[in-house]
Amino acid sequence: MTLKKSVSVFGVTGSIGTSTVDILRNHSDKYSVDAVTAHRNVQSLASIAKDLNARCAVIGDPDLFHELREALAGTDIEVGAGETALIEAAERPSDIVIAAIVGAAGLKPTLAAIRRGARVGLANKETLVCAGALMTAEVAKHNATLIPVDSEHSAIFQVLEDKADKQVDRILLTASGGPFRERSLVDMKSVTRKQALAHPNWEMGAKISIDSATMMNKGLELIEAWHLFPVAEERIEIVVHPQSVVHSMVEYCDGSVLAQLGSPDMRTPIAYALAWPDRIKVDVPRLDFAMIGSLNFQKPDTNRFPALRLARQALQEGGTLPTVLNGANEVAVEAFLQDKIGFLEIAEIVETVMEKIGREDLTSLNQVFETDALVRRQTAAHIAAV
Ligand SMILES: NC(=O)c1ccc[n+]([C@@H]2O[C@H](COP(=O)([O-])OP(=O)(O)OC[C@H]3O[C@@H](n4cnc5c(N)ncnc54)[C@H](OP(=O)(O)O)[C@@H]3O)[C@@H](O)[C@H]2O)c1
Repeated sequence: MTLKKSVSVFGVTGSIGTSTVDILRNHSDKYSVDAVTAHRNVQSLASIAKDLNARCAVIGDPDLFHELREALAGTDIEVGAGETALIEAAERPSDIVIAAIVGAAGLKPTLAAIRRGARVGLANKETLVCAGALMTAEVAKHNATLIPVDSEHSAIFQVLEDKADKQVDRILLTASGGPFRERSLVDMKSVTRKQALAHPNWEMGAKISIDSATMMNKGLELIEAWHLFPVAEERIEIVVHPQSVVHSMVEYCDGSVLAQLGSPDMRTPIAYALAWPDRIKVDVPRLDFAMIGSLNFQKPDTNRFPALRLARQALQEGGTLPTVLNGANEVAVEAFLQDKIGFLEIAEIVETVMEKIGREDLTSLNQVFETDALVRRQTAAHIAAV
């Protein structure tokens, strides 16, 4: 009999979180559940914690501690609330942590898991964008393991051969192009929240859905890929692939291109992060190539999707600029979701804030938190002023 691996899921009530729950439920012979966390969704968190027989449940909003305690009364599940409790939950000795909080809010707990040498299945790309090389240095220092959950990075991780750094010519990051792939700029000016949230291929949380519509998601993934894989920035290319069947590709120096394909279902890359270096069965729809017929690829349009250009610039200039890009984007996306700004204004605001704040050399994690806080204040003030 093999020992079960214990898993903690940060952001368990979200889209990635609930897909993870589905896998854990179907493989309860292989995995036990340690900590589960959410931000405000107490009832859903409590119900998942009971269902999975978790040892600990933490709600990010400290005001909801009593509500969570009440919802879990009569169980022996430990209860916590607030940022410190989230960090403590990450410090608990689980074998695997699935980092699926949305945004830079996930950085502190993810760092806590890294610092105890855990295996981290990283969905929360914003953490790697805003803390970049400092985060990968922590991974190396503490002998932690970072396994990408983002489908594109999981694809690359699966087809990137050991010691391939000198043999890789290009990484080709595929992008669906989102719901506005074929819209003109004039049309995009007036798109609604509902239209922007309606992704053609993937069911995801609100923030990443808007990021997919602006293509900032692909920009963040470009930065994420550069941190995860040993390939120069100019050799990471973005290719629009509307069917989302090819999840990304690696081109080698001998001309071979290796790709990973699958249905657009996040349970596949999540299962890979959980089971790596093995695989476990996941009940996802299988590809029917005759039905698919053809796969298409196009060049991305940085005029209509300026977020791609901004993310490339942030990666090239480095330092704190990716932190600025990420923080400004988080605030602008939230403002769009609250109908305070128009769709095209998201990238405009990010660009303005990047110009205004500029870049500094990135030397400490404290600087990341300070820069992130400053960017959020300035972006909110800018939005309020326009
Ligand atoms: N969804 C996808 O298919 C997909 C694919 C690739 C990568 N990702 C990445 O995975 C991450 C999660 O995406 P998602 O789509 O699953 O997001 P989501 O559905 O919005 O879920 C976010 C989760 O994080 C929690 N959360 C939100 N703000 C928090 C805070 N300030 N402190 C602590 N917890 C907080 C939420 O709790 P409440 O429910 O209580 O608000 C929820 O559990 C993102 O970084 C995204 O880019 C997602």
